[in-house]
Amino acid sequence: MEQTSYAQTMAVVQKHGAAQDKLHAILLDLQDASGMNYISPEVAGIVAEALCMTPAKLYEVLTFYSMLHSVPQAKYLIELCGSTPCHFTGAAALRATLEKQLGVKEGVATEDGLFIFHCVQCFGACDVSPAAKINHVVYGPLDSEEKVASLLQKLRDEAREGEVR
Ligand code: FES
Repeated sequence: MEQTSYAQTMAVVQKHGAAQDKLHAILLDLQDASGMNYISPEVAGIVAEALCMTPAKLYEVLTFYSMLHSVPQAKYLIELCGSTPCHFTGAAALRATLEKQLGVKEGVATEDGLFIFHCVQCFGACDVSPAAKINHVVYGPLDSEEKVASLLQKLRDEAREGEVR
């Protein structure tokens, strides 16, 4: 599992500016850099100190927003839209396909640590519904098992290439 060092954490804080109104952007960047889509207690502590916040206040923010995670997720964080337009174009079938192809339920990471999925509200990709957002990239319409299988394979290949680099 990748870890974000003190220096890397402070570089992200300084990029945004050590101000509390930048907290959300800082945490999102650090979560992306973690490799497992989460903010570790160590990183949270560094950010809290840099922004002159209590760790409790930072934890409150961290647990309030559904896109922020305080426990390790997976290399690829899949957000599955469950709002009405996606619902009518096959969100339930997409969810069932993901469960089948990944072999896990919502909120549970695959054994290889590559994938986890969560159902979320509309993220503005209704024109390509049913849609999923994976590490901030929107994919859709994911309206067949073949499309989902090929997308997951592309991501597995990408992860493998990243390991040998
Ligand atoms: S309803 Fe699914 S992205 Fe908007």
